[in-house]
Amino acid sequence: MDKKIVFITGVSRGIGLELAKCFLNDGYFVIGTSRSEFNLHEQLGSENCLHIPLDVTNRDQVSSCMEKLKEKDIVPNVLINNAGITKDQLFLRMKNEEWDDVIESNLTSVFNMSKLFIKSMVKDRSGKIINISSVAGLMGNPGQVNYSASKAGLGGFTRALAKEVAARNITVNCIAPGFIETDMTNHFKDEELKNILNQIPANKMGNPKHIADLALFLASSKGNYITGQTISVDGGLYMS
Ligand SMILES: NC(=O)c1ccc[n+]([C@@H]2O[C@H](COP(=O)([O-])OP(=O)(O)OC[C@H]3O[C@@H](n4cnc5c(N)ncnc54)[C@H](OP(=O)(O)O)[C@@H]3O)[C@@H](O)[C@H]2O)c1
Repeated sequence: MDKKIVFITGVSRGIGLELAKCFLNDGYFVIGTSRSEFNLHEQLGSENCLHIPLDVTNRDQVSSCMEKLKEKDIVPNVLINNAGITKDQLFLRMKNEEWDDVIESNLTSVFNMSKLFIKSMVKDRSGKIINISSVAGLMGNPGQVNYSASKAGLGGFTRALAKEVAARNITVNCIAPGFIETDMTNHFKDEELKNILNQIPANKMGNPKHIADLALFLASSKGNYITGQTISVDGGLYMS
């Protein structure tokens, strides 16, 4: 890869924002997206980045994002599918929209975004796709049938696409975070948090940098022979 360019979905907070900071520090030009308007230049304190407002579930917006990149002659060689949501509910009470929204946002969005960049990666015979999954997709979490299914789906997507494009020097992997301190997990009550920590052998929550460190490794040449994998970053939660 001559110029390092990363495209990260969901950079307005949490893991996505940390990914943006760490990739910028590693010399990447960072293209970050979120639905909300967001001043990425200001957040990162750098001109070496571009924010594109984008709903990853909206295929018209996804196509027009490609037009914007073409205008600026920017071709990303690393795609990180990070944007995701939860709409937790016990299955008996889960509404159709709670299922549809989570599958669209967490799984169909990865199809939309990967479709956008795979052609140029195949043409360049180089590329890295990193999907941010979850330990919920490996273990299954009660109250998260929709979320667990969407993240488990990412594992299958990753393995199948990895096989299709491996000979073109493109790797496709998943990172499966455990409990990471972000807005997504800041609603736990003391007792819930205590129960969660009891299940984690490391006995603490992770932070977004733990995820960014692995993403940087997978995106670098050090990760060139790793593909189709789902790697947990969870303080031992999944194995326990
Ligand atoms: N935190 C954890 O413990 C944990 C554990 C396992 C897996 N994960 C996964 O890690 C990823 C990041 O999680 P997080 O904790 O950083 O979550 P977060 O703090 O809630 O941030 C989610 C990001 O995704 C963006 N987003 C959501 N829906 C979007 C859409 N339709 N289009 C575009 N952007 C969208 C949000 O931006 P806007 O709202 O501005 O659009 C935001 O930037 C998610 O895939 C999540 O499932 C997190």
